[in-house]
Amino acid sequence: MKINKLEIENIKRVKAVKIEPTANGLTIVGGKNGQGKTSVLDAIAWGLGGDRYRPSKEYREGSVTPPSLKITMNNGLVVERKGKNSDLKVVDPSGQKAGQQLLNSFVEELAINLPKFMNQSNREKADTLLQIIGVGSQLYELDQKEQRIYNDRRAIGQIADQKKKYAEEQKFYPEAPKELVSASQLIQQQQAILAQNGENQRKRQNVANIQQQFNNEKAEIDRISRQLEELQQKHNQTVQDLNTAQKGALDLQDESTEELERNIQKIDETNRLVRANLDKEKAEEDAKENAKKYQKLSADVEKVRLEKRNLLNNADLPLPELSVEDGELIYRGHKWDNMSGSEQLKVSTAIVRKLKPDCGFILIDKLEQMDEDTLKEFGQWVEQEGLQAIATRVGNGEDCSIIIEDGYGSGQNIQANEIPFTQEAPQQKNWKAGEF
Ligand SMILES: Nc1ncnc2c1ncn2[C@@H]1O[C@H](COP(=O)(O)OP(=O)(O)OP(=O)(O)O)[C@@H](O)[C@H]1O
Ligand SMILES: [Mg+2]
Repeated sequence: MKINKLEIENIKRVKAVKIEPTANGLTIVGGKNGQGKTSVLDAIAWGLGGDRYRPSKEYREGSVTPPSLKITMNNGLVVERKGKNSDLKVVDPSGQKAGQQLLNSFVEELAINLPKFMNQSNREKADTLLQIIGVGSQLYELDQKEQRIYNDRRAIGQIADQKKKYAEEQKFYPEAPKELVSASQLIQQQQAILAQNGENQRKRQNVANIQQQFNNEKAEIDRISRQLEELQQKHNQTVQDLNTAQKGALDLQDESTEELERNIQKIDETNRLVRANLDKEKAEEDAKENAKKYQKLSADVEKVRLEKRNLLNNADLPLPELSVEDGELIYRGHKWDNMSGSEQLKVSTAIVRKLKPDCGFILIDKLEQMDEDTLKEFGQWVEQEGLQAIATRVGNGEDCSIIIEDGYGSGQNIQANEIPFTQEAPQQKNWKAGEF
């Protein structure tokens, strides 16, 4: 739906203005400050947007006739406000009466109130775009997923750092054996030696005992001569035993357990060092393990980010180089607050244009922030989009379709507050915009 013709009288600063906006592209309402340019847009917004867009003082001060507004749409629909109460009258193409509801079905609110879009928060603007391109919920899920992995990675990163630091702080003892030393082995060795020594001791005692016996018997021989022979025989035997025993005891040597005792004493100290080395080794392994996990999570975060980029890259965006990052609009690599005023206007227009495809027009105030080149480029883009943009711009350059001066459109000065306004009078002229 587009606007074919606008006829506005005695609304705010406007005395009498007629415009036939171009169907595709820019129609610029020019003029000096305070001459009534924005009043024209306000009148359209009131006409199509309903009573919530009624200006606080809709009638023009000093006018003897009430406000009057007539908007003819390209399908023949006629919207009027006139009379004492500025009542709305809508007549559909078939000649049937209709009302605000019909207007609401094709008028996009943000198209008649672009500042409302521009004043939204950064997140709201991005959400509006995501809603248009239909990836809002997928992107939200990816955002959540990314946040979760990012948090996991941060936690693992902290642990990995701590482990690494701990491992580095641990002391290493190169002199300690690789494995823990066992005390029982050493004690067994000690016991075996002690047993052997005991056996030696027993043999020595045996020698002593036999010696004693020899002595006794010798005394007996002296004392008991009668039993000499018998005793002599026994004694000879004893002499032999004695020799054997003496020989057996000759090579006996005791082994020292001193070294073992020292080792047993050292065992706790040694094991302390071994444990410290094992702890260090474990800490290093932990640190490596965590570093690996961190790398894996980093790769996951990158993957989700890539998915997000792909989601947006594959979406049908209303403007090249327009996208969403971190819940904010990005145009040509810049966030909203870093976009120039003209870029903000272009982005807003592109987004709002897609909100209600039936609404083929948009109102843009204050286009003077675009220089001539930008304006030309913007006009071409609007035209190529098949959009009808009705805009205001301070100045009277040749870009302007109509110049407003003291509430009149160029060449449209009919002294509206002196001659009572009639529907017929202005229509005697050809009111096509820009031809005056
Ligand atoms: N109801 C009214 N009756 C008469 N004059 C009004 C009314 N409402 C506003 N004005 C005057 O109209 C002027 C503003 O009109 P408008 O906003 O349409 O101008 P403009 O051409 O858009 O100006 P600018 O270039 O500064 O944006 C103000 O000077 C204001 O005093
Ligand atoms: Mg203005």
